Amino acid sequence: MVFENACVEVPGRTILRDISLSLSERRIAIIGANGSGKSTFARLLNGLAKPSSGRVLIDGIDTAKAPRGVRALVGFLFQDPDDQIVMPLVEEDLRFSLKALKLDKDGEDAAIERILSRFGLKDLRQQPAHYLSGGEKQLLALANILLRAPRYLVLDEPTTLLDLRNRRRILDAMDGLEETVICVTHDLEIAAGFERVLLLDSGRVLADGAPADVIARYRSLAG
Ligand SMILES: Nc1ncnc2c1ncn2[C@@H]1O[C@H](COP(=O)(O)OP(=O)(O)OP(=O)(O)O)[C@@H](O)[C@H]1O
Ligand SMILES: [Mg+2]
Repeated sequence: MVFENACVEVPGRTILRDISLSLSERRIAIIGANGSGKSTFARLLNGLAKPSSGRVLIDGIDTAKAPRGVRALVGFLFQDPDDQIVMPLVEEDLRFSLKALKLDKDGEDAAIERILSRFGLKDLRQQPAHYLSGGEKQLLALANILLRAPRYLVLDEPTTLLDLRNRRRILDAMDGLEETVICVTHDLEIAAGFERVLLLDSGRVLADGAPADVIARYRSLAG
């Protein structure tokens, strides 16, 4: 994943300024104050947001030119899990995600059963997805993304709504993943366990490197 002088501007405002970097580590955290541009940065990675100037490339694919190709590579967990639910029932929502894989019915059922067990959601299989608690929705959203087997996972505050047990479930799920994870978070314990941390501040990358250094810089900003 490569940013080449990427800027995001809206009328009268610059949200991200001239970002150039290459992301190749398997675990990268994005931290920074509210409004610093973290979600916008994350959305650039799967083509949901496009740079107003500069480029963002995922495995060489330009997100502005081939957003569909990019979305097949990059799974995205929204900050608000309600944005991610597309079908009324939990089971239907998961089945919808499996469509692209073209499994037969038994294959789909087995995949749904496996992912529900993995996230402790088996009892919710026939429930309306919109009635789940915030934390359960977040787990369902992550389950949906993993079913599509993306190469990269971009997670926007995956643990914000979760109680301690479900936070642990998400962290364990992340630990077990082969995929590259880029995680926006205010949970500095998560960032501390990653390989590389980026600190955003007013749309700029203010610090980029080993977790201990970047987290210390962030703490110093908060005074
Ligand atoms: N499409 C848009 N039009 C206008 N302003 C926008 C747009 N998208 C984001 N912004 C503004 O850009 C800034 C950065 O937003 P962003 O959502 O990326 O911040 P964030 O770091 O994720 O914050 P938080 O920690 O609160 O989630 C905010 O001030 C936001 O209001
Ligand atoms: Mg955000």
